[in-house]
Amino acid sequence: MAKIPPGVGPRFPQVVVLFGATGDLAKRKLLPGLFHLSSAGFIPGCRIIGVSLDDLDTDGFRQTARSALGEFFSRKIPDADWEAFSASLEYVPLSAGADALKAAVDRAEQSLGSECRRLHYLSVPPNAALSAVRLLGAAGLVERSRIVMEKPFGTDLASAVTLNAKLHEVFAEEQIYRIDHFLGKEPAQNILAFRFANGLFEPIWNRNFIDHVQIDVPETLGLGKRSGFYEQTGAYRDMVVTHLFQILAFMAMEPPTSLEPVPISEDKNNGFTPVGRLELGKLLHQPPERKMNQQCGIRVRESAGAGCEPSRRSTASTPFGALLETGPAALNLV
Ligand SMILES: NC(=O)c1ccc[n+]([C@@H]2O[C@H](COP(=O)([O-])OP(=O)(O)OC[C@H]3O[C@@H](n4cnc5c(N)ncnc54)[C@H](OP(=O)(O)O)[C@@H]3O)[C@@H](O)[C@H]2O)c1
Repeated sequence: MAKIPPGVGPRFPQVVVLFGATGDLAKRKLLPGLFHLSSAGFIPGCRIIGVSLDDLDTDGFRQTARSALGEFFSRKIPDADWEAFSASLEYVPLSAGADALKAAVDRAEQSLGSECRRLHYLSVPPNAALSAVRLLGAAGLVERSRIVMEKPFGTDLASAVTLNAKLHEVFAEEQIYRIDHFLGKEPAQNILAFRFANGLFEPIWNRNFIDHVQIDVPETLGLGKRSGFYEQTGAYRDMVVTHLFQILAFMAMEPPTSLEPVPISEDKNNGFTPVGRLELGKLLHQPPERKMNQQCGIRVRESAGAGCEPSRRSTASTPFGALLETGPAALNLV
């Protein structure tokens, strides 16, 4: 196990309650990421409680996690590291209810000693987020906790406002972390350094010198088992108003007055004012050659996903006619 410098890692032992623990994000990123942190020694006092709709027991969840690591963890998995990680996993099916979840968290906290913190990660579709929040409230697991909300946050403006209000009935704002993992990607972070710490480009980053900006997301991943998710969410909510708009904000924002969350958010929001209101029906599926009147256009471009699986547009469980917006997205600002 690597030697971790003092002061690195969480100050307190953590109990992670992972909702959607058998879903795509959990298998592809969260469980491999937690395993990596665990095997590197960054989270020595950590227990992970998986919660999902699947009727599994803890052994079943451990098997699910092991096969997810086999598929998605890019390094060798030493047996001892897996054994240690596996022992930190527990599973509570959603159907077991609030009392069973509370009992599992209590057990995990007792095994870790005093002063634990709780991290609730909602890796669930947007329409399941509120029921998970209510469950956490009913289980009395709000104290000493933080909650990570995945994007998209709600399904439209009205549902996002409602979700926020309901979330605040249970969690205080300081406990809530609304995540968009694109912001952690190096190319996204590099935009800020490229723009604001670069004497060559900073003076010419304006409309006098830039004709248009195009943000492409040429995904090669297919739908896999996510057709249910896309039927409800679609690519526009999954990609455009989340990831692509975050990149857009980085491209268009003025330099933030300070590197604190509120000023950064305000300056990002201000960057959207000139874009105006977007009408989805007019923006999607524009042929690439068509010149758009809007200041901002979004199109699905087949060529962007060369090598992309044919299953992007329909799968066995996607009925014909329920054509999904799953193509690679491109955002064009003219
Ligand atoms: N997949 C990615 O790469 C990715 C990347 C960034 C962000 N996200 C976001 O992460 C969230 C999850 O995405 P995903 O791709 O993992 O979707 P997914 O594959 O459909 O997984 C969702 C999981 O949540 C479970 N679930 C549904 N309702 C639940 C509830 N009320 N309580 C507990 N579990 C529940 C599902 O169980 P069943 O399988 O039994 O239905 C499934 O295990 C979404 O908000 C998505 O936008 C995903």
